[in-house]
Amino acid sequence: MRNTITVMNAKGGVGKSTLVLALAETLANDHGKRILVVDADAQASVSHMLLPQDRLEAVQSGGRTFVDFLIGAVLKQSSAKWQDYVVGGASDIDDARSIDLLPSDTHLTLFEREVSKGEHERELRKTVGALLGEARLLYDLVLIDSAPGLSVLTESWLREADFYISPTRPDYISTRGLKFLRQFRERDPDMGFAEPLGVIINMKDAHAPEDAQYEEWLRQDAENYCFRQPILRVSSLQAATRFAPRPRSYWAKYPGQTGASLRELAAELLGRLAMAQPGATYRGAPGRAART
Ligand SMILES: Nc1ncnc2c1ncn2[C@@H]1O[C@H](COP(=O)(O)OP(=O)(O)OP(=O)(O)O)[C@@H](O)[C@H]1O
Ligand SMILES: [Mg+2]
Repeated sequence: MRNTITVMNAKGGVGKSTLVLALAETLANDHGKRILVVDADAQASVSHMLLPQDRLEAVQSGGRTFVDFLIGAVLKQSSAKWQDYVVGGASDIDDARSIDLLPSDTHLTLFEREVSKGEHERELRKTVGALLGEARLLYDLVLIDSAPGLSVLTESWLREADFYISPTRPDYISTRGLKFLRQFRERDPDMGFAEPLGVIINMKDAHAPEDAQYEEWLRQDAENYCFRQPILRVSSLQAATRFAPRPRSYWAKYPGQTGASLRELAAELLGRLAMAQPGATYRGAPGRAART
């Protein structure tokens, strides 16, 4: 099954981490999916969203993060196994217990510098590829939360994952990030690249006519292959990024229309994934096959 997805927009602050969190929790809670979230950002945003602070700090100070795995595997050629760095039961939703996390830490930035300085890019890509090859079989879905910009690590995820999805805000700067990504994809076609699974419009202000105009403009471009369901800018999604001290229900975390929109989005994602499997008759992504 092709089930590994990098969540990427070169622009920062468009909601990549928030959507990785919300999609992972919706798919675990509603569909019982086993999800691996890979935190590939030195800011460790999604690690903070999925774990209580003391637990994350213990993992970080114990040298048990995904960064520690990468340092061993790529720079020291150790035989470390990524599975030993997975933290299980990540999430504060009581019925979303099937989420595993490979947590990050700030020294990811230093690791990336070492990779570039020592010309370890090939080794990094091999490690990332091997990890995804194994994780593909162990999980229903692998979601990689990438950093803004385009680091050597992000490039590895983009080249090795099966798919990528791009969240964007309905504004000019965020859509520039999408354009940059598209240009990058076209640059070295022989080097392999994830297949686009679509653009998610996030943080839309329901009362701003400019947002509606930008949304329409994004949807007109078939290459964006926008998800039908936009996600509105709402305080509950901002609050969702703070890990709750006590487990809560899905509806307490994503109330009302927000939960309903996320469910629509998650269902659409599963539909697009199913259709993008080898042998599926309908291929939705632009430029792949004729739509019927
Ligand atoms: N739909 C939304 N409604 C309200 N706030 C949101 C929404 N989506 C994201 N946010 C908020 O916007 C901010 C940026 O979101 P997030 O950290 O997920 O973006 P990002 O793309 O991962 O950023 P970075 O590029 O720094 O990794 C956060 O404060 C988050 O709580
Ligand atoms: Mg982020």
